[in-house]
Amino acid sequence: MASPLEPGRRGKAKAAKAAGLPALFIVGSGSQARYVIDIVASTGSHRIVGIADLESDVNVGRSVNGVPIRCVVDDLPGQFATSAGEIVVAYGDNRRKAEIAVRLAAIGYRFATVIHPLAWVSPTATIGPGCIVNPYATLMPNARVQSHVILHSQVNVDHDCVIGDYSNLAPGVTLAGGVTVGQGVTLYTGANVLPRLTIGDHAIVGAGALVHRDVAAGSTVVGVPARAVRR
Ligand SMILES: CC(C)(COP(=O)(O)OP(=O)(O)OC[C@H]1O[C@@H](n2cnc3c(N)ncnc32)[C@H](O)[C@@H]1OP(=O)(O)O)[C@@H](O)C(=O)NCCC(=O)NCCS
Repeated sequence: MASPLEPGRRGKAKAAKAAGLPALFIVGSGSQARYVIDIVASTGSHRIVGIADLESDVNVGRSVNGVPIRCVVDDLPGQFATSAGEIVVAYGDNRRKAEIAVRLAAIGYRFATVIHPLAWVSPTATIGPGCIVNPYATLMPNARVQSHVILHSQVNVDHDCVIGDYSNLAPGVTLAGGVTVGQGVTLYTGANVLPRLTIGDHAIVGAGALVHRDVAAGSTVVGVPARAVRR
């Protein structure tokens, strides 16, 4: 009889299966990291081996929903070789996410995209590397999501939309057909964008906004209908 400290037959089978999965290291230890942990638990697509903290080494040794924080991001190469598997930058600040992703790509890291099984992705939609797609997000035909984009729960990206690198769409955002979202854009909770409009790079759209005309790069718009509050 197996000792209670040793995995039983089922435990061993599970461990062997997990060992065959690609390894994943998460960069970032906040809420976006917890999304990734949930998604990977649902898909079984990867074996998460650790987290690299972006803030401070005081968090090293702690864990996030059972996943150990093994290092700060600068020490990642010492913990996880570029050939050891994939990484995902799970971070809500678009500019910092971009800076980190560019730096880690230059070292040679490859980026995983994680998609919750309850998300709908049209067979003709495309998603780039490093994206995080949460439950009930929908990507309709010919939507194109570039790299390192976060789609939160219940985001609707309708047909022919394009979402630029590093953008972040908060829960319940709805893009009508043919909308173009630039790079590093944030659309906050429940914002709606009418068809074929363009949201410029690094723009911010406030929670609950109704966007009825193009949004200039770098501006912040709020309200129904949306008006600029800062340029
Ligand atoms: C867009 C947002 C970031 C703007 O923040 P800000 O630039 O600091 O703007 P301020 O708070 O200074 O507000 C500027 C003006 O816009 C108004 N305003 C701010 N957010 C608004 C919103 N979402 N809807 C309507 N009006 C809004 C303010 O009342 C203020 O109006 P006033 O000039 O008439 O007094 C913020 O208000 C917002 O919508 N945050 C959403 C956060 C969220 O959804 N997080 C979820 C993450 S998962």
